[in-house]
Amino acid sequence: MTQDQLKDAVAAAAIDEIQPWLERDTVLGIGTGSTANRFIDRLGRLRHDFKGAVASSEASAERLRGQGIEVFELNDVGSIPFYIDGADEVNAHLHMIKGGGAALTREKIVAACAERFICIADASKRVECLGAFPLPVEVIPMARSYLARELVKLGAHPVYREGVVTDNGNQIIDCHDFMIDDPVAMEARLNAIVGVVTNGLFAARGADVLLLGGDTGVVRST
Ligand code: A5P
Repeated sequence: MTQDQLKDAVAAAAIDEIQPWLERDTVLGIGTGSTANRFIDRLGRLRHDFKGAVASSEASAERLRGQGIEVFELNDVGSIPFYIDGADEVNAHLHMIKGGGAALTREKIVAACAERFICIADASKRVECLGAFPLPVEVIPMARSYLARELVKLGAHPVYREGVVTDNGNQIIDCHDFMIDDPVAMEARLNAIVGVVTNGLFAARGADVLLLGGDTGVVRST
């Protein structure tokens, strides 16, 4: 199977996972990226079975509207039973690196509000140790050079993602050559540096369910 077919398969599996729980007042949390896009496209067929969605990016909001799904502001929503999103890397503990699409801050906020995080990914995203994918850190622009120096002290090779401005008006530094032995501790350590808005480690709040697409089908783990 191609990577695109695997993304389609996990998007379909996520629909199966949530469909029995949808109610007329359900608001879903929706992630960002090529895998999440496939999920959004399938979700359109169910648009009359639930109320709407909160999006983790302007791009996903636009795609949801294109499917006839109403998009709500997070501040106007009560509970969110499910957050569905892809990942750049995921380990056996369902810790993830996210933010390859620069949407990490809103992704982390919406995920924090959700009762269950369903991660959908093709098998190429499954790793033993997080960090081969450069860890994104969203930063306040005036702190960028300071933060680059602080990230070097932690052992990373920071690279400014030039030309990218996040939906929140901030910038992204990608941490290369930065293998992460303890994702929960590193997430907290990065959060403690002044000027960091969000880091792309989703470990303190990892996924609750992983739907991983491989050649033998979609494997569900919790
Ligand atoms: C967006 O900022 C990211 O966190 C994405 O969720 C992640 O990069 C996965 O994207 P793909 O599904 O396109 O691989």
